[in-house]
Amino acid sequence: MKLTDPAVDISLFSLPIGKKDIFCEEKPLVLEIGFGEGEFLIDAARCDASRNYLGIEIKRGRFRKAVRAAEKLSLGNLRFLHIEAEIALRQVFRERMFDLVLVNFPDPWPKKRHSKHRMFNREFITCLAKVLAGGGRAVIKTDQLSYIEQIVSEFERSRLFRTAYPPPGFIEAQTGETETKFEKHFREASQKIFSADFLNLPS
Ligand SMILES: C[S@@+](CC[C@H](N)C(=O)[O-])C[C@H]1O[C@@H](n2cnc3c(N)ncnc32)[C@H](O)[C@@H]1O
Repeated sequence: MKLTDPAVDISLFSLPIGKKDIFCEEKPLVLEIGFGEGEFLIDAARCDASRNYLGIEIKRGRFRKAVRAAEKLSLGNLRFLHIEAEIALRQVFRERMFDLVLVNFPDPWPKKRHSKHRMFNREFITCLAKVLAGGGRAVIKTDQLSYIEQIVSEFERSRLFRTAYPPPGFIEAQTGETETKFEKHFREASQKIFSADFLNLPS
């Protein structure tokens, strides 16, 4: 693996992997789950050399597209991993290695009969708490009101996090400096975007 190769090959390491396996320089580490084609993370890494950025994505085609785009930039603080999120959190990452976890527009599964497929359930939140440093944060954005309400109630029920915002536990997000592909799409359609921010309580 070259120093600036954006694709992480976990077969080269014994599990769980830690920050030093992925990045040469020790810096605060941001994880984006479900990065899509990676535009948001590429922009973030390019604009902010003070942090390392790791993205995970389940779809191979999207992962490859992000890697191809990042290869042209040779950024030392940006890496991508093709993996399913819960497997990564449960089995691949070392405990407490992330300072911030971002989930931008998780698949919404809006139909009631599909809601069991939603990412944020009790097990997932427990895994998230383990890989976040004490005082680390999980920030989630979605255009689905029912999903953000469910997310807030699952985080509160877990007792592993403190909600940063007062009731109802989320805000209507204003335009960010860096928007994801889905965020641009929803804003163009004048849809509301909701954001929640959870602080990991030290165990
Ligand atoms: C609605 S898209 C949002 C993409 C991007 N974050 C954005 O805002 O433009 C959700 C993304 O999460 C990925 N995804 C869904 N479930 C996942 C999982 N269990 N593990 C990793 N990625 C996942 C999907 O493949 C898809 O790229």
